[in-house]
Amino acid sequence: MAIIKSTTYNIHIGDNCFDALNTFLSKSKYSGYFIICDENSFTYCLPTLLFHSPILNEAEIIELESGEDKKTLDTCLQVWGALTDTGADKKSLVINLGGGVISDLGGFVASTFKRGLDFINIPTTLLSMVDASVGGKTGVDFEGIKNHIGTTSEPKGIYVNPTFLETLSERQIRNGYAEVIKVALIADLVFWKELKKLKTPKQFQTEKVISKAIALKNEIAKKDLHEKDLRKSLNFGHNIGHALESALIQSKKDILHGEAIAAGMIMESRIAHALKKITAKEAKEITGYIESIYEKIKITKEIESQLLKFILHDKKNEGSELCFALPKRIGEYELFCGVELDAVKKSIQNY
Ligand SMILES: NC(=O)c1ccc[n+]([C@@H]2O[C@H](COP(=O)([O-])OP(=O)(O)OC[C@H]3O[C@@H](n4cnc5c(N)ncnc54)[C@H](O)[C@@H]3O)[C@@H](O)[C@H]2O)c1
Repeated sequence: MAIIKSTTYNIHIGDNCFDALNTFLSKSKYSGYFIICDENSFTYCLPTLLFHSPILNEAEIIELESGEDKKTLDTCLQVWGALTDTGADKKSLVINLGGGVISDLGGFVASTFKRGLDFINIPTTLLSMVDASVGGKTGVDFEGIKNHIGTTSEPKGIYVNPTFLETLSERQIRNGYAEVIKVALIADLVFWKELKKLKTPKQFQTEKVISKAIALKNEIAKKDLHEKDLRKSLNFGHNIGHALESALIQSKKDILHGEAIAAGMIMESRIAHALKKITAKEAKEITGYIESIYEKIKITKEIESQLLKFILHDKKNEGSELCFALPKRIGEYELFCGVELDAVKKSIQNY
């Protein structure tokens, strides 16, 4: 089992992470346990958790409907209500068992209930293992704006059991893998070289890949919890990718976050090359690998104009200049790269 140290807590990775969880639970003396899950983590993951941590058989289970459209204040009201009705107090522990929707929403609910309850994350999707559960960002969507209401609140521990991924679809594995590719491209050339050899979703979800990706994200997030500078590097691929995701969702197209980020990394790598930050060879290497895994997204003229609108309103921009985080060579990043709108338009057209 790998143990990664974060700010004040540890991240335990491996099939036997439950041993560490049991030790934590027996030492901590919480007054009660409240497990937040959705219908899929309830069906596929909760039985395993209860089997390995029998003390949690006494937990209250709060089961939510799955989906990004449930990451709302309405769902929070439902959970705050359930916590109140079942007698949660200041000494209770909230356990977020699920994908990124559950860790974002559950972390937010816990950090605001009675001015803050302890919580832990047990991520069950690749995206939540390597990204969403790590780094202390919690929150919900509001009036169509993603993660508009939230807190920065860290869990008391993260327990990552990669075998939970066996019931996840290949599409969902590729979804999470985009964030693995991203963190390698901005932070670790050696890891990137290892990733380039991987071709199938089975190879993307090994404990080794997950542990390395978590270690890299954790290292960046713990040095800059409140995203003053360093942490902005994790936005590589997200300026265009996030805008593309929003434009496609607005047009009711079926798109997952990681698929949009993969397209965003292709376009932003070409911008990085145009700005002479990475070489043509590096840009080709990045785009070639991403294209070998992800289907091309169709960007119509209508989507393109919506996408540009979203980019102009992106909270990552500073003043009137578009502000991107780009690789300056593979494995290293540069923050606050000023990018002209024309360069963005060109990269969309060349995509
Ligand atoms: N806080 C952060 O730093 C951060 C970072 C990245 C993403 N996010 C957030 O994460 C969310 C996306 O996370 P996600 O992709 O995990 O989505 P998700 O939580 O919606 O999970 C995806 C789907 O997989 C199902 N599922 C979960 N575990 C499963 C399992 N083991 N087997 C089968 N099905 C399972 C879920 O029910 C859901 O249908 C977004 O809301 C995004 O904003 C947060």
